[in-house]
Amino acid sequence: MRTAKRRSIAPANPTRFGAEMAACLGAVTSSESGKYQALFDQASDAILLVDGEGKVEDLNHAAEELTGFLKSELVGQSVQKLRPLPGQAMSLQRARPMGSELLRAPGTVEDVALLRKDGYPRLVEASVRHVQAQSDGPTVLLLLRDVSEKKRLERELLTKHSELLNAYLQLEKKSAEMQALQETLVQAGKMTALGELATGIAHELNQPLQVIRGFAQELQALPDADSATRAGHLKEIVTGVDKMRSIIDYLRGHVRKSVEGQDWVDVNQVLDESFKMLERQLQARGIQLQRHYQPSLTRVFANPVQLEQVFINLGTNARDAIESTGRGSGKIEVETQSVGDFVEIRFRDDGCGMPEKTRQKAFNPFFTTKEVGKGMGLGLSLSYGIITRLQGSILVESELGKGTCFTVRLPRDYREL
Ligand SMILES: Nc1ncnc2c1ncn2[C@@H]1O[C@H](COP(=O)(O)OP(=O)(O)O)[C@@H](O)[C@H]1O
Ligand SMILES: [Mg+2]
Repeated sequence: MRTAKRRSIAPANPTRFGAEMAACLGAVTSSESGKYQALFDQASDAILLVDGEGKVEDLNHAAEELTGFLKSELVGQSVQKLRPLPGQAMSLQRARPMGSELLRAPGTVEDVALLRKDGYPRLVEASVRHVQAQSDGPTVLLLLRDVSEKKRLERELLTKHSELLNAYLQLEKKSAEMQALQETLVQAGKMTALGELATGIAHELNQPLQVIRGFAQELQALPDADSATRAGHLKEIVTGVDKMRSIIDYLRGHVRKSVEGQDWVDVNQVLDESFKMLERQLQARGIQLQRHYQPSLTRVFANPVQLEQVFINLGTNARDAIESTGRGSGKIEVETQSVGDFVEIRFRDDGCGMPEKTRQKAFNPFFTTKEVGKGMGLGLSLSYGIITRLQGSILVESELGKGTCFTVRLPRDYREL
């Protein structure tokens, strides 16, 4: 049957596969059988031809590469030779072992563990096809594709994914810890401020208390004191008590921290309201009050009574600063202005001004440069508290002997910040 011409196309040593395939597809010539043989040999997938008993009849180059066996070492052997020993494929736990039972049903099995000649298992995808060949009994076509690398990458991806998830969870935990820490710090800061305040209060209350005690003790020791002495001592005691009460009143205002009574307020109107109380005092001291209000000023959301407290304090401070110059005259300029979503209020006086040291401490509770009974040193501290609770700011610029300027900046609506 073989002609010289045909022989030249056919591979030199056609094997079982070419013949079987050719026969299966109805080809009879050796040239056709040779074509199939070439296809078989050059296929990138490993192909094994197995008989009904599971004996290997033929295999291609890719199968030699995949299994590590030479064709001569496998042909005539059972596919069981490619079966991993029990327990060997630790990393391939979910895989099915290669073996004759795999060949019974046609189809594709994804994870099949195969033992290589070098003793290492490989993970393959196995496709089983039953072909009816011309020869004795059924023939099984076994296609194997190495998926070890694919699986390894999959596993790596899975590991990386879980690592990433872990890192993310860690990050979330750390972020929660940071937040808790920050809250603790804020709380600690509050406690420190409270502690300072408490020390100051104790100190302030102690002074009049000592005075009261002294005069009361003297009265006790002098039951027969004349009425003038008694009246004098009692007056000192009442003054001391009044002083204590005014400190307590101030503190109440501070502690109340009222956010109740907040509304959209016209700062110009609140300023006018504050000056009603001050104007006469200013006139009596020859102090001019100049208002430079921006008409239709942006309204701010705040408690007008608290804002009034701030403005009265800034006004009285300016008054005191001018009075302390001894000139008998002066000027306070009050300016308002909308700046974007903020309102700025400026108090400028031509009073005594502050040296650097005073300026630094001006906002401290109980800091005062005023004589006993005149200043409590709480005005700016309270003002600062009120303004910062509204997310605003209060700044001071001052030059000794020239004057001082306080700038209050309030957001239109602190709830939006
Ligand atoms: N406009 C101002 N000019 C000069 N000094 C000022 C002015 N405002 C405040 N100060 C200084 O800051 C100090 C603290 O002010 P404040 O807290 O209102 O307390 P007090 O008015 O009771 O002293 C004042 O004693 C004064 O030394
Ligand atoms: Mg004051």
